[in-house]
Amino acid sequence: MRLDDLDVTDRVVLVRSDLNVPLAADGDGHVTITDDGRIRASVPTIAGLRDRGAKVVVLAHLGRPKGAAKPGLSLAPVAGRLAELLGAPVGFVPAVTGESVTAEVARMSPGDVLVLENVRFDPRETSKDAVERATLAEEWAAWAQAYVSDGFGVVHREQASVTDIARRLPRAAGTLVDKEMASFARVLSDPERPYVVVLGGSKVSDKLAVLANLVGNVDRLLIGGGMAFTFLAARGLEVGNSLLEVDMIPTVQQIIKDAQERGVDLLLPVDVVVADAFAADAAVKVVAADAIPVGWMGLDIGPQTAIAYANALSDARTVVWNGPMGVFEMAPFADGTRAVAEAMASCPAFTVVGGGDSAAAIRLLGIGEERFDHISTGGGASLELLEGRSLPGLAVLEESA
Ligand code: 3PG
Repeated sequence: MRLDDLDVTDRVVLVRSDLNVPLAADGDGHVTITDDGRIRASVPTIAGLRDRGAKVVVLAHLGRPKGAAKPGLSLAPVAGRLAELLGAPVGFVPAVTGESVTAEVARMSPGDVLVLENVRFDPRETSKDAVERATLAEEWAAWAQAYVSDGFGVVHREQASVTDIARRLPRAAGTLVDKEMASFARVLSDPERPYVVVLGGSKVSDKLAVLANLVGNVDRLLIGGGMAFTFLAARGLEVGNSLLEVDMIPTVQQIIKDAQERGVDLLLPVDVVVADAFAADAAVKVVAADAIPVGWMGLDIGPQTAIAYANALSDARTVVWNGPMGVFEMAPFADGTRAVAEAMASCPAFTVVGGGDSAAAIRLLGIGEERFDHISTGGGASLELLEGRSLPGLAVLEESA
């Protein structure tokens, strides 16, 4: 069912959002939200439901508290930020279920918004046992009349607030999940060409399934980040102290061969920024990819590589980017990620940034988010979609009632 068709007026509507944002605590325990992107992305669905006179109860998680209440992972500060962004009061109950929740819900009027405490404080949320998860879902379903799935970042999880509750109520995808799905559909089936995929991040093992799924479909594959060094090693180059997954070398050699056979243009760094330590104040130099000195580590793609990658992006019609090109959190190693992001933002393509670190990089480096067609809010979820997997939180929305 589409969100517009869901009967929500004067009803208690559970909205599963992904409000899992990074927090920083100072010495006094005061918590600051360091990137509120996911909260902002959750606003349209919640605002739309308020406008339609729903009583909106938000379910969300923060971190991985492993089934126990952890004060540092309370959603209270997130509820405060949501109120600011929504421009409306947002209630907060420091409980996931129980009498205090039922009482607060009973007091709600149409248009009210209430955030419950971190659902992962309840061990049943993430339980592997479907019966246990069901008992939690039943407690919510006892007072809710509809469910909206808007936490794209968790649709790859089989968890009580994602799948079990969805089966128990009239349900629809929220605005954010709809937008994410439409964007990924456009790059996964019949993309406009040239189709360029930029993959980075530290480990090739995290991206193997994505590589396997995409290599048959893309025109150009640009590799950066820590994972590039396993590719360079697979080509027989010395990589010094750079990140290297030795056991992945045969697999990567196979990927290189597959790419060749399928006519995919696979681009690897031709130069790299190396450092003598993993630190922002380390000694730094640019060397050719085949001349990484012993004892040095590559922490970013080099300027020649950045130019080559920008060229490879310049005429693209579809681009997917997942994973930074270097350690962008440290200024000396941010240029490669910045250059690729800039090239992607400037090219004529439909551009999708696949969540997690790449989305964080765009915000941290101050490259206007509006210059990309879609910046996913999902980390693991967007990776699993790019791997071609069916995600339980999406599949459940398709099940017949
Ligand atoms: C994320 O941060 O990718 C989502 O919020 C999911 O979190 P999880 O990996 O802890 O399930």
